[in-house]
Amino acid sequence: MRHLMSPLDFSTEELSNLFDLANDIEKNPGKYAHACAGKKLATCFYEPSTRTRLSFESAMLSLGGNVIGFSDAGSSSAAKGESVSDTIRTISCFADICAMRHPKEGAPMVAAEKSRIPVINAGDGGHQHPTQTLTDLLTIRSLKGRLDNFTIGLCGDLKFGRTVHSLIHALVRYENIKFIFISPEELRIPDYITDMLKEKNIPFEEVIRLEEKMPELDLLYMTRVQRERFFNEEDYVRLKDFYILDKTKMALAKEDMLVLHPLPRVNEISVEVDDDERAAYFKQVQYGVYVRMALILTLLEIKVN
Ligand code: CP
Repeated sequence: MRHLMSPLDFSTEELSNLFDLANDIEKNPGKYAHACAGKKLATCFYEPSTRTRLSFESAMLSLGGNVIGFSDAGSSSAAKGESVSDTIRTISCFADICAMRHPKEGAPMVAAEKSRIPVINAGDGGHQHPTQTLTDLLTIRSLKGRLDNFTIGLCGDLKFGRTVHSLIHALVRYENIKFIFISPEELRIPDYITDMLKEKNIPFEEVIRLEEKMPELDLLYMTRVQRERFFNEEDYVRLKDFYILDKTKMALAKEDMLVLHPLPRVNEISVEVDDDERAAYFKQVQYGVYVRMALILTLLEIKVN
């Protein structure tokens, strides 16, 4: 039995197979419509979500399976003090696979250790968000035709942004990737990540101004400044509108640069950018469903001919 805790749990070859499967699902949805008949997905979300939870549920329903779960820790027995270990032992009696989001780093891993069914980390604190990374990679590969030879700018909350941390770990396995980290001083990328990049001789720069680097970028990954990760409201208010991507900044970018964002957005991308052909963030949401369908099939070892 296999779980997914980090994007590194799959080799690049396995990822390539997963993305091929996701692209086939996109082209031939009918072929997969009953692949998970009789199977159940449990979504155990101890933190709010729109995309991740609903795309998992949509993915399982599109495969002909069923879904159960909770979207709020307060409506589960966690509110009475039940541990994640006991919860997953219970869920293992009800479902065939589980997607879990939790505010504490490592909680899905603790669950996986006690689980009798595959557990998918659907985001754990500021640590990892592997299915967002699968979504990001599938989007890039589908729209650009490759996962190598990019200069990628990551902008916003690079300190707490789990999607950023997961994506960097995944991209370092591809050739000729250069990272440009764009953040205010307070939200800089953690040292353990820059240390890893130095160790692997992967080029990166850290800058504060987005405009300065726009012309160099093949991909721009925008992120939200996350109110829920701040210890005080004053710091959040000071930093929340530090970056706003608008038409003026987009005019500085390459004609084929892609703008990605894991969403939700607050103010960091002006709605006037949504109509720009380079804005890929809503396409990304759609790719998230295909890749989660492919992931469910892969972890349940279901083959469709
Ligand atoms: N991208 C993402 O994780 O969105 P949700 O928080 O809405 O699931």
